[in-house]
Amino acid sequence: VSVILAKCSKCGQNTPSYEGVFLTVCPKCQGALLLQYDLKQISDLTPRNVFEERDDTFWKFIEFLPIQSENIVSLGEPYTPLLQFPTSYGRFFRNVYIKDDGRLPTGTFKARGMAVVVSKLIELGVNKDVAIPSAGNAASALAAYASSIGLNVFVFMPKDVPESNLKECIYLGAKVRLVDGMINNAAEALRKYKDEYGWVDVSTNKQPYRFEGYKAGAFELAEQFNWDLPDNIFFPTGGGEGVIGLWKGFKELSELGWIEKIPRLIIVQSSGCAPLVEAYEKNQNEVEKPWRNPETIAAGLRVPHPYASYLVLRVINETKGKAMAVKDSDIIQSMKAFFRMGIYACPEAASTLAALTKLKEEGHYDSEEKTLLYITGTAMKYFHLMKMNNDLAYHA
Ligand SMILES: Cc1ncc(COP(=O)(O)O)c(C=O)c1O
Ligand SMILES: [Zn+2]
Repeated sequence: VSVILAKCSKCGQNTPSYEGVFLTVCPKCQGALLLQYDLKQISDLTPRNVFEERDDTFWKFIEFLPIQSENIVSLGEPYTPLLQFPTSYGRFFRNVYIKDDGRLPTGTFKARGMAVVVSKLIELGVNKDVAIPSAGNAASALAAYASSIGLNVFVFMPKDVPESNLKECIYLGAKVRLVDGMINNAAEALRKYKDEYGWVDVSTNKQPYRFEGYKAGAFELAEQFNWDLPDNIFFPTGGGEGVIGLWKGFKELSELGWIEKIPRLIIVQSSGCAPLVEAYEKNQNEVEKPWRNPETIAAGLRVPHPYASYLVLRVINETKGKAMAVKDSDIIQSMKAFFRMGIYACPEAASTLAALTKLKEEGHYDSEEKTLLYITGTAMKYFHLMKMNNDLAYHA
């Protein structure tokens, strides 16, 4: 493993990576830590063509992950499909691609982060209970990975979490606490207990390992695109760890000289909870106060006050991306459109097509550019929500 140190994304201070210690946040300013590797050494020892000859699995680029191969905890993570947007749907979306992470274990991209962090726990010999506050899918993924190796999982979720996530966690054997309010309140509730019970907290953006799983997604994508990435990537964003991890991957690929161009990262939120969009539009460096009355069917995007908002905004600005908000009604229309293409995109993910459609309607979409819509999860978990909206069913 060639992690040299962990660098604070906020104040820039380096923390030694201390073999044997589970890192959390910057000791000085509580900023999110990003692991730093000796990239040159890795690629000198293992050139790109050697990686390319390996099987297509999530673990293909293991040298760029903070774990040794003997410590991998796997539920069988495939390379996820990279599809071309069907031309029959719309001739205007000629150069559009779709990455479908709904095919990962537990049906969402959250499996990437949890595969890495749970493997790291094994590597460090941490056999304590693990805990997480979650809007739903992160909890399911943690419950699956951690319970597969016999760890106890404690989950704190908003009490109106999607029913499927709740059932999934319970069937996976996690101990679930339902909390009044949003994910922020769930995080507060967890904080009260975790020291007393000695739980390892694997919260979003509060440890550096989960980013690395999304980074592996960046490597996977780059290889699938034959090292020539799209101009734009639309990514549904709540807490932001997915888009941060992807960006970190692109930066490392660029530093390695494996890619030339880093895509513009266009984050998409629901207009019912769009704190990052608001901060972006006001040119702020971070989300200053929580979004009031967050409401959206895209549960994973209901994050009123993202912990690492400063970093998401930096990612957008650095890649010359954008932050866009779309209405839930447009999200539902986009889900239907995806269904007709055979793609079961969850509401969070369907927001990407809603955003692309909006850009096109506004005349800001360049069909000569290559664009990717990142599908972060499957619709299978959300059928009960679609019925609740009474949108797809007619009463006889
Ligand atoms: C399906 C899905 N997509 C997107 C997101 C947003 O991810 P992030 O918190 O990494 O921004 C979530 C978060 O829970 C999710 O479950
Ligand atoms: Zn710091």
